[in-house]
Amino acid sequence: MVEIRLPKNSRLRPGKLHKAPLDATNIRKFHVYRYNPDDKENPQVDTFEVNMDQCGSMVLDALIHIKSTMDPTLTFRRSCREGICGSCSMNVDGTNTLACTKAIDDIKGDVKIFPLPHMPVIKDLVPDLSMAYAQYASIKPWLQGDESMEPLEENARERLQTPEERKKLDGLWECILCFSCSASCPSYWWNGDRYLGPAVLLQAQRFIQDSRDEKTEERLQELEDPFKLYRCHTIMNCTNTCPKGLNPAAAIGDIKKKIVAQKTG
Ligand code: SF4
Ligand code: FES
Repeated sequence: MVEIRLPKNSRLRPGKLHKAPLDATNIRKFHVYRYNPDDKENPQVDTFEVNMDQCGSMVLDALIHIKSTMDPTLTFRRSCREGICGSCSMNVDGTNTLACTKAIDDIKGDVKIFPLPHMPVIKDLVPDLSMAYAQYASIKPWLQGDESMEPLEENARERLQTPEERKKLDGLWECILCFSCSASCPSYWWNGDRYLGPAVLLQAQRFIQDSRDEKTEERLQELEDPFKLYRCHTIMNCTNTCPKGLNPAAAIGDIKKKIVAQKTG
């Protein structure tokens, strides 16, 4: 019989129960993943009984309430609280999403909160995104001109687009790089060191589509790789999970089509 050994730190040890104040009557239970590399112990899931009469309506409000009143060591990222910065992405109730835009009332029963799956954890709900950001840098996420571009007219400050050219960026520019999509993709789980993943490929498409960019050909050639691009098997978890309602799977499909057109055209 094959014996499978789980990776180090994958077994959970029993967590702590943090009780609500005695006078609280409106209580929800939050089960929160905890991991601290400094204490050399396996992770645990702590339970917090939150007094909802003193807590806002979003999952991020509950985390802030827990940190402020129950356990100051709880660690998570957040900044804008408006679904704009992408820093509070985590797995809530089994789905990767933004804690700041996920309403507690939309979750039935206890609320389960884990870090983005299949990423190394720095502490508690904070994943290590170093590799994802390095992959993002690899696609050169800025507009590139080349020497053949017409010089801008004297005093002109912008490279203009027609409304039609600008429209091609819709569904792409809105990405906030929360990496919820990449962390939901089985291909990225298994080949995340070589497959760029849906978030970075959607960003690549954002620059491929931009009429002001002069390096479309080079960008497509750079992506034509059995791992970087073609490890997408159209599983669609990315599109199903994106908290901004974007469609990374369609963006990847369009890149593949453009590569074929480049070769045959
Ligand atoms: S495509 Fe959606 S899920 Fe993926 S990084 Fe962008 S905003 Fe987040
Ligand atoms: S805190 Fe900025 S997206 Fe949630």
